[in-house]
Amino acid sequence: MPINWFPGHMHATKKAILERIKEIDVVIEMLDARLPGSSCNPMLAELTAGKPNLKLLNKQDLADPMRTAAWLAHYNALPACKAIGMDASESAPAQRLIAASRELAPNRGGMVKPLRVLICGIPNVGKSTLINTFVSKRATKTGDEAGVTKTEQRISLADDCYLFDTPGMLWPRISVPQSGYNLAASGAVGRAAYDDEEVAFELLGYLKIHYANGVAARYKLDAKTLRSATATDLPDPVVGQDESLDIRQVMAALSDDELLAAIARKRGAVHSGGRINTQKASELVIHDFRTTQFGRATIETPGEHAVWTAAAELADAKRANEKAADKLARRQR
Ligand code: G4P
Repeated sequence: MPINWFPGHMHATKKAILERIKEIDVVIEMLDARLPGSSCNPMLAELTAGKPNLKLLNKQDLADPMRTAAWLAHYNALPACKAIGMDASESAPAQRLIAASRELAPNRGGMVKPLRVLICGIPNVGKSTLINTFVSKRATKTGDEAGVTKTEQRISLADDCYLFDTPGMLWPRISVPQSGYNLAASGAVGRAAYDDEEVAFELLGYLKIHYANGVAARYKLDAKTLRSATATDLPDPVVGQDESLDIRQVMAALSDDELLAAIARKRGAVHSGGRINTQKASELVIHDFRTTQFGRATIETPGEHAVWTAAAELADAKRANEKAADKLARRQR
């Protein structure tokens, strides 16, 4: 998806990380537990020169617990990497962060060799909220605007552990299209940068397969109404069949347009004359996802994200080859 955001403080943040990284022992990357792969900055490994990495899957209260476990196992299997799940209800986040960081840098600690950690993450991932719990007075502001944390600050987590904060950062080009949609759905990207309808269609396309019952419950959709909403010929329900299975089958058979239209009708997102108000319905779906109205949901698995990334790399390589062939052909003319 062409996301047209201004990467904001990207250059300043990059510079701040590069200047600081030499004296850093552990890099904490805050990820959104609903989209861990998509919220993981592909530039970070290069910027942080392979320093041990703690992935903090934040907002786990909004994510699917089984999938969070799968993502934690995925990251914990990587070298020099550890992952923990977290959310704003955590009673002692600093202690868990320090403990996990110490495991990654066991030779650091004590007044002579204090443990120095750097924290980074995409906008809106919950970094200011977490950091507010570390400081007695509210030194950082939380809010909806991408990049509220503006200046780097050093926070003492323990007598021998310092945390360096960095502003929320996205990267210049999101080459994995599904990651663009997922980042937009999560609220990491400013509204002006994406198309609500495109994002809602993609989101619904995923949710109707993986969280069909949550979507049906939210909009009070039943299999009978949905059957009448689709042009596809669906088999009649089997007598005695579990209703939740039936709704999953019907939902999977509906096109994304048909499903959005069914939702719009249920929620009164229609223009006078009965035409579906796709914009309003799309905003509704995105809002409902962000506020867990479909239940706790994670919109990618490690396997899916790996497939998306491989496909994007292939597409990039193909584009580069075509460009090179074009250039050569022009030179030969
Ligand atoms: P940032 O610094 O990374 O940009 O993010 P920030 O802390 O400002 O948090 C962005 C939004 O995410 C805030 O909501 C915040 O309350 C919410 N949030 C942070 N951590 C968690 C978490 O673990 N779970 C859940 N469910 N939400 C979290 P907001 O509506 O934008 O602001 P507010 O009304 O809460 O102030």
